[in-house]
Amino acid sequence: MSVIITGINGQDGYLMCKYLLEQTSLMVYGTIRYRTTESTTMKDYFPDNPRFNMLHLDITDNVNVLNVIKKVKPRYFINFAAQSFVGKSWDIPHVTWTVNTMGVVNILDALKNECPHCRFYNAGTSEEFGDVLYSPQNEEHPLRPQSPYAASKCAARHAVRVYRESHGMYAIQGWLFNHEGVRRGKDFVTRKITRTIASIKKKMEKGERFEPLELGNMNAKRDWSDAEDFVDGVWKMLHQDGPPDEYVLSSGTMYSVRDFLEECLRVADIPWSKCENDTYVHTTTGEVISRVNPDYYRPAEVRQLMGDNKNARLELDWTPTTEFSTLVRKMFEHDYL
Ligand code: GDD
Repeated sequence: MSVIITGINGQDGYLMCKYLLEQTSLMVYGTIRYRTTESTTMKDYFPDNPRFNMLHLDITDNVNVLNVIKKVKPRYFINFAAQSFVGKSWDIPHVTWTVNTMGVVNILDALKNECPHCRFYNAGTSEEFGDVLYSPQNEEHPLRPQSPYAASKCAARHAVRVYRESHGMYAIQGWLFNHEGVRRGKDFVTRKITRTIASIKKKMEKGERFEPLELGNMNAKRDWSDAEDFVDGVWKMLHQDGPPDEYVLSSGTMYSVRDFLEECLRVADIPWSKCENDTYVHTTTGEVISRVNPDYYRPAEVRQLMGDNKNARLELDWTPTTEFSTLVRKMFEHDYL
């Protein structure tokens, strides 16, 4: 029995491979896109595990998708390949829609024809709730996307549902709220904060000059969890009896970007005072540690997201384990060392 996991060079794809290699006896096929400029090999991932295989797969190429599915005949297909950066999606809407929506249609159609009993999971997102009507958001909340990224994921959700209902496929897309960790990409706000504050802390200790951290909307509020908790929730979603449901995975708590920065400064033990316009300065030296740069504002912003994980807790027996402050500490300490 085998599983295909796409996007293993991203945080979630990598963690899903690791989880399934540890928790199951499946053959794990992790895929990445072919690039002439990168020489990624299996050695970069799980070199000592004979159950791990790396394949090249570009989900926007339907021929490639079909051939990989024909070759592997997977029992499960977990799609984490995406253009996942919301902020960038206004600049590259075509790529965003092609990968996040058409890529999913390519997989669904190939599975329908070649592997109709394969269980398929597509990465869905709290961004689909967008301009929210109530908090916390549960599975019933309407889809109100605010970005090309979120709209592309809503379209994919409808494609998944249509294939599920039309062809009786086990095809689902959960709603994953923000999930972070030490493999998080450096442009996402949490990792940007922990990496930059860790670097500033090291420079302060050596008496070196440093450039301040620059952030966009400090008021945005998110429901941040540990990505390691979420792979277990995804796997549970793939093991329901009867027609499958789609679930919200979240911590059920909400903090602002400002809260994240201040928690990180506390963990880093950097004494700070806050001046006008969210400028943070070192209490004794007066050096600017962090300031707002409007270049990081988005054309439209999702002001707040907080997920109601009640159904996942009760029906999937899934529980998030890492609290906000522990998550910030884990990420900062990793980046500081
Ligand atoms: N990236 C970034 N950089 N975001 C900033 C910055 C900055 O300098 N300053 C403020 N923000 C705000 C953004 O405007 C947003 O409101 C919030 O911080 C979080 O931004 P990101 O970390 O980029 O994540 P996201 O919430 O837009 O999207 C992530 O979570 C989604 C789930 O809700 C991504 O992982 C998506 O792929 C995922 O679907």
